[in-house]
Amino acid sequence: MQNNTFSGLFVGHNLITLKEVDSTNTFLKDAVSKSAPLMEGTVIMADRQFAGRGQAANSWQSEAGKNLTFSILLNPVFLKIEQQFELNKAVSIALNDVLTKYLGDCVYIKWPNDIYVNNKKIGGILIENIIQGKKFKHAIIGIGLNVNQVNFADNLKNITSFKQELHQDYHLMGLLGEICSAIEAKYLQLKASSFKKINEDYLNRIYLIGEIASFKFDGSIQKGKIIGIAETGQLVLETNGEIKYFNNKEIEFINQ
Ligand code: BTN
Repeated sequence: MQNNTFSGLFVGHNLITLKEVDSTNTFLKDAVSKSAPLMEGTVIMADRQFAGRGQAANSWQSEAGKNLTFSILLNPVFLKIEQQFELNKAVSIALNDVLTKYLGDCVYIKWPNDIYVNNKKIGGILIENIIQGKKFKHAIIGIGLNVNQVNFADNLKNITSFKQELHQDYHLMGLLGEICSAIEAKYLQLKASSFKKINEDYLNRIYLIGEIASFKFDGSIQKGKIIGIAETGQLVLETNGEIKYFNNKEIEFINQ
């Protein structure tokens, strides 16, 4: 275990790097529940996760030492439980902004938790909230970002990395520092209740918003147009003259 720091930030001020762990999210969740209080903004980063977790019980596979796999501890006690999706928006925009700097305007937030570049997944976010009674206590922000990996397992379709897109290696710690700083800025915006601005920025970067595309839902592939994301975090789709709301896993994007 190694302790580093990004100066001037609270996100990443306490940075713990591990050679190997099951999952940085699990590690941080356990640490929060068992040990003495951890500083808000603590980041756990691992060179290798042997049981990395993704959304909806999927696994997160990442070649050791080539990518970013890390988790951030936040204490968004200022949010109501019903506002938990706001945190997802803030983190997504922060990642989108940093990636856009390198990759240009082809970076989008694919609802609900993916970051897409040129129609391929480059990263994913897994936020796990710890709620006590009716109050938000902690949020574990898990981020996996493909950076210097170029070969992916055959079962991983439609995947890319910084290196695949830009044909050069990137410095993982430098990138991590930029992401921590961007997340801190958006988190402070959230704390200042700038919900309107965050929502505008989020909708602005939603993959396929306003475009007719194919989706699989209710057992068949159908055309539809994403027209927004509800406050609950549900995807809002206009389809066959109706407006439908979907939770994660109730709808699939069909690549055209
Ligand atoms: C997804 O796309 O399904 C979300 C992937 C999130 C992966 C990251 S890697 C760091 C953190 N630890 C985990 O076990 N998962 C998240």
